[in-house]
Amino acid sequence: MSKIGNPTFTTQMIARDVLDLRKVVAEWRQEAKTVALVPTMGAIHAGHLSLISEAKSRCDRVIASVFVNPTQFDEGEDLDAYPANEEEDVRELASVGTDLVFCPNRKDIYPEGFSTIISVSGLTAGLCGPFRPGHFDGVVTVVAKLFLQSLPDIAIFGEKDYQQLLVIRQLAKDLNIPVEIVGAPIVREEDGLAMSSRNRHLSKKERLIAPEIYRILKMVSERIIIKPNDCELICRVAREKLIEKGFEAVDYITICHAETLQPLSALNCPARIFVAARLGQARLIDNLPIN
Ligand code: PAF
Repeated sequence: MSKIGNPTFTTQMIARDVLDLRKVVAEWRQEAKTVALVPTMGAIHAGHLSLISEAKSRCDRVIASVFVNPTQFDEGEDLDAYPANEEEDVRELASVGTDLVFCPNRKDIYPEGFSTIISVSGLTAGLCGPFRPGHFDGVVTVVAKLFLQSLPDIAIFGEKDYQQLLVIRQLAKDLNIPVEIVGAPIVREEDGLAMSSRNRHLSKKERLIAPEIYRILKMVSERIIIKPNDCELICRVAREKLIEKGFEAVDYITICHAETLQPLSALNCPARIFVAARLGQARLIDNLPIN
């Protein structure tokens, strides 16, 4: 166990393995403290910090995990290009009052001989599922491990990865993991671009194009309220607009049921618009509820 480098953050600690983590959590439990977990892959930005604030408003103690999970990267996705700067991440997390940063090494999460993969069906069938084979299996497997290692009361996930949020909720429900899964609203840059570690891959020119994704989501949202039976047509026009604005490919832009993620042709239930589009090295995803 080590203290976070900056002497002004003396109460925050880093746990490097499960034993350390469990020791701290056990002490907190002795003091009847409630515990929140915020899982991250590092590359901390203001979106993550908002999750920590949400966690702090709900629980006595907050753990943030920082682990770049290799099993959720597809073949062809560059795991090594994922931005990693532990010192900076820990400093950022500490600055908003994270009580413990869990930075396990790969062997702690995937020891030699590791042979269990968890898979959630249904919710993973659409949206990012077909475009990222194996991705959600990697996510739920590591998240299940993090839950069992830290046994938090609640865990917070950003709504930017809305499909991930629902899949993890399903995981906890199906496996009776006693943790409440809380979704936190998307944090956006001033121009509307949803905050994401992937934004670092955008060139200056691409960064100017990227906020179009949010503008087009809003356009879809406005049009569908006027023509609620025209989901497919409106999304087709939106797809063309994204390409026109400079996106190289649109994996999907679609309106789905907000809980089942089934695609809708007419707006007759709680719904969200979902988009995934490629710009240079980055695959950007975003979503918007329809009010
Ligand atoms: O959303 C992420 O950063 C990751 O998918 C998560 C939940 C930390 C699992 O590795």
